[in-house]
Amino acid sequence: MSFHLVASLMTPGHFRSAWRLPAADPAAHLDIDYYQRLARTADEAGIDAIFLGDSPAIGPDIARNPANGIDPLVLLGNLAAVTERVGVLITSSTTYNSPYNLARRFQALDIVTKGRAAVNLVTTYAPKAAANFGLAETPDKPTRYRRAHEFLQVVRDLWDGWEPGAILADKEAGRYADPDLIHETGHRGEFFEVAGPLPTPAGPQGHPVVVQAGGSEGGLRLGSALADVIFTVAQTRAKAVDFRDDIRARAVAAGRSADAVKVSLGVIVLVGEDEADAHARAEELYATLPFDDIARANLAVLGLGERDLDEPIRAEELPDIPVAEGGSAGFRVSTRALLAERPLSARELVRATAGVPGGGHRLVVGSAEQIADDLEAWWRARAADGFTIMYADTAVDFDRFAHQVVPILVERGLFRTATPGTTLRERLGLPLWERDRGPAAVDASA
Ligand SMILES: Cc1cc2nc3c(=O)[nH]c(=O)nc-3n(C[C@H](O)[C@H](O)[C@H](O)COP(=O)(O)O)c2cc1C
Repeated sequence: MSFHLVASLMTPGHFRSAWRLPAADPAAHLDIDYYQRLARTADEAGIDAIFLGDSPAIGPDIARNPANGIDPLVLLGNLAAVTERVGVLITSSTTYNSPYNLARRFQALDIVTKGRAAVNLVTTYAPKAAANFGLAETPDKPTRYRRAHEFLQVVRDLWDGWEPGAILADKEAGRYADPDLIHETGHRGEFFEVAGPLPTPAGPQGHPVVVQAGGSEGGLRLGSALADVIFTVAQTRAKAVDFRDDIRARAVAAGRSADAVKVSLGVIVLVGEDEADAHARAEELYATLPFDDIARANLAVLGLGERDLDEPIRAEELPDIPVAEGGSAGFRVSTRALLAERPLSARELVRATAGVPGGGHRLVVGSAEQIADDLEAWWRARAADGFTIMYADTAVDFDRFAHQVVPILVERGLFRTATPGTTLRERLGLPLWERDRGPAAVDASA
């Protein structure tokens, strides 16, 4: 079992209020030089991929905090040009895109990055997105996932349109391509009608790496059947182990090998010069948060009414929220597991999750050694195949993680910075797509 690391470029950090710190540049999230420096740091450290989350809408809390608003395909396309090895993982919405455009863009990204492209397909729960696309309201979750499933199938068919050998480049005969080896998609479904094919053949990976991040039943089904990597969230190790076991079993049930799907667990890191420094920095970050407001938002997201912000919440008190409603099932399940293990008040929850209302990723505060210990223990417990590292304050923790934590993981023989091949699929231990199609596909093209 290999160990993977994905680095989030979210700026100012997972603490959205980190821009308020005295040394922070409040406009760093709009500064390409800053992002290029992060990307080069990740590339040199041997990180597998850089990643940016996204929603096609203005940030919900823009009055207080900057949002990561730059279109991530443009931003990470630029970062790919100044790096050599690191994968570029870009979030795109299946609810607010067309499969043809998305398939074409990511195939282009795979070609221009020489096989380093990946897409994080999300169904988008940001309530303000719908109105940007002429919709009166956000489609409900089952509809979004039905669309996502059809969307990804169309994208895969488009990526498969050109068989190997379709380009003849026969100068003598003047035959450039064999149209018999270039297939139309001819898709007609509930949501899309797409003729295809794409105008160009596949890039080095065949299919760019596909990540799926939804934690509800629809997301898990989609991810285990069709994705290469599942992004997830877990506040407790037992929940993470169960989740990974479940995904592997679902992959097998869908006719795939259990190892064909990698689980990448989100973790927020705050790396101190030593333990005392880490905790002092955490207090500085907590002091930037509007604690009571976030604590009240926690109650609202969890479906709890008015209550004392210091009263412990027990998991049994949380109401079931209908599947069609609400933000993220994944985050809710994770918070429920945390409260089942350890009842926390609404205010204490703010501290556990870097101030993300409703509960977010697990925050690990410590020295570089302590953070390496934590990741190692979770990985050895088979809680994840790797980690999506998010930074409490990206301006400080990104460099510290790359320069101090990664070398410890390498020294312990956990993380390999040198991998076979040059593509992201190979780095992640995933088969190149042509190989994955196996002999049957080759026979069919003969
Ligand atoms: C590590 C991680 C990263 C995510 N990034 C995004 C993102 O950038 N944009 C987004 O709309 N949703 C993101 N999500 C959320 C899911 O993709 C999904 O849209 C949301 O959780 C609602 O669906 P669910 O109820 O199936 O979880 C992320 C989730 C995780 C665990």
